[in-house]
Amino acid sequence: CGIVGYIGKRDVAPLLLEGLQRLEYRGYDSAGIAIHANGTGKAAGGLKTAKAKGRVRELESRLPKRFAGTTGIAHTRWATHGAPTDENAHPHADTDGKVAVVHNGIIDNASDLRARLTADGVDFTSETDTEVLAHLIGRSAAPTLEEKVREALRVVEGTYGIAVLHADFADRIVVARNGSPVVLGIGEHEMFVSSDVAALVSHTRQVVTLDDGEMATLKADDYRTYTTEGSRTSAEPTTVEWEAESYDMGGHDTYMHKEIAEQADAVDRVLRGRIDDRFSTVHLGGLNLDAREARGVRRVKILGCGSAYHTGLIGAQLIEELARIPADAEPASEFRYRNAVVDPDTLYIAVSQSGETYDTLAAVQELKRKGARVLGVVNVVGSAIARETDGGVYVHAGPEVCVVSTKCFTNTAVAFALLGLHLGRIRDLSVADGKRIIAGLRKLPAQIAEVLAEEPAIEKLAADYADAKSMMFVGRVRGYPVALEASLKLKEVSYIHAEAYPASELKHGPLALIEPDVPSVAIVPDDDLLEKNRATLEEIKARSGRILAVAHQEQEKADHTIIVPKNEVELDPILMGIPLQLLAYHTALALGRDIDKPRNLAKSVTVE
Ligand code: G6P
Repeated sequence: CGIVGYIGKRDVAPLLLEGLQRLEYRGYDSAGIAIHANGTGKAAGGLKTAKAKGRVRELESRLPKRFAGTTGIAHTRWATHGAPTDENAHPHADTDGKVAVVHNGIIDNASDLRARLTADGVDFTSETDTEVLAHLIGRSAAPTLEEKVREALRVVEGTYGIAVLHADFADRIVVARNGSPVVLGIGEHEMFVSSDVAALVSHTRQVVTLDDGEMATLKADDYRTYTTEGSRTSAEPTTVEWEAESYDMGGHDTYMHKEIAEQADAVDRVLRGRIDDRFSTVHLGGLNLDAREARGVRRVKILGCGSAYHTGLIGAQLIEELARIPADAEPASEFRYRNAVVDPDTLYIAVSQSGETYDTLAAVQELKRKGARVLGVVNVVGSAIARETDGGVYVHAGPEVCVVSTKCFTNTAVAFALLGLHLGRIRDLSVADGKRIIAGLRKLPAQIAEVLAEEPAIEKLAADYADAKSMMFVGRVRGYPVALEASLKLKEVSYIHAEAYPASELKHGPLALIEPDVPSVAIVPDDDLLEKNRATLEEIKARSGRILAVAHQEQEKADHTIIVPKNEVELDPILMGIPLQLLAYHTALALGRDIDKPRNLAKSVTVE
């Protein structure tokens, strides 16, 4: 979900709508806005609210004619408690309509609090946990808005990023954070607040990120931050690195296409300044793991969700191959719920584009509590996971806006290659192999450009495959995570059912599904498993299945082969996934899907 707020001199509704549009990728089931209405004398003040199920443009078309003001808050929602309806859209109000609250996160004890408030005679108008907060604030007898909010938060358990307006305190917005991001944007005679810098960068690059347990009061000309207990905290603004332009579509029709097309540059960024030719290794300045500690690592366990988990699988193989440390990856949510054995000689690595995914963050917190060493491989600088971990590698993909991950996936895989190389060269990867991998890494940007140049051919193929009932993706060892990610990409964006299997597992069940309208995509690198993979193609062909191969050379048994340039075997998976991003994209386009905002999904899932 996304929060945006503004206090200053400008007309607030258009500003907030623009902010919401920038946050829509975080949730888009419903949207809403509340403002302090302009007016004079006794009629002054009072809050006005508008909400709508659906996209931000729906809300825009529903705004009343008179909706002028210079202070307001807004929200775009990804439903958790309660279906996406007008009533459940934020902001939520108290009974008198004096309070407006927008909220990200989940209040765990909402049903208890709701029962207590109902017993006291409060009528609820929505099914959300957020409305509880609005009533608690509205019923507080405390003299200031800050204290009212504080009182409410004292009885609330759970996670929140909130922004609050109150009709009787028209000169301020009060915000608070616990587990869900809140960023203040500092302007000249105007202040912004958002859950994401994406909504701020077109107005100001001076930001203050709140910590958990912190609150802030925003007025047009100043702001202050303090703990939920009320003691002042220091809040020096920092400058956001990312340019406003990197959030624009830059001539592409979708963010997904833009982000796929950017990958050569993105990979160049993750490599920049890190290669050390003298020692045939890489410098990872933020790793915070010295050579002695690196040598003491007995295992590596990588944790993430969705595409991040899949890059973790690639990362585990890279670390195992280059550094010869046993490594594996696991969905962060599974790990945190299964009471895993936490071993002091294991290096844990959390992977996340946003650095906010709740399951991944919770896994990190649980590990830290048990004394484990946790590194982060994260894209968003200063995000919660980046801050909670002991060190790590930034991925430098730049902002990724499309809900489905493309460039960040690729860059994260490259970041793992860097980490594998670094750990390997401390342990027993030879100078010659170090050189070989470095040369391979340097080739990647130009090779990515070569793959992307195949787009017209891939677009034609996508038209062929768009009528598939279901698709099977297969690969072996290095190819298997590529198959998993390609299958996820296709499902997310085209809604075609897809499954990924290790090629050798096909004969143990899924072969039963193969028929002419269930085509297979096979990852067939020129490595020591080439012949095995060819045998898989035969198996599929014998059941009259169509085959699309992604390979380094033409595959005779396949109906179509997409040829990708050859790199070092360890790095091949990085390139082989890219044509399949284009395949998913063009299939979705052919089917008329909402590419940047697939149904039911959100870019970062900051709830359990
Ligand atoms: C969501 C997104 C996925 C993403 C996953 C992990 O489910 O829809 O595209 O891979 O979260 O996100 P993270 O920000 O932790 O990489």
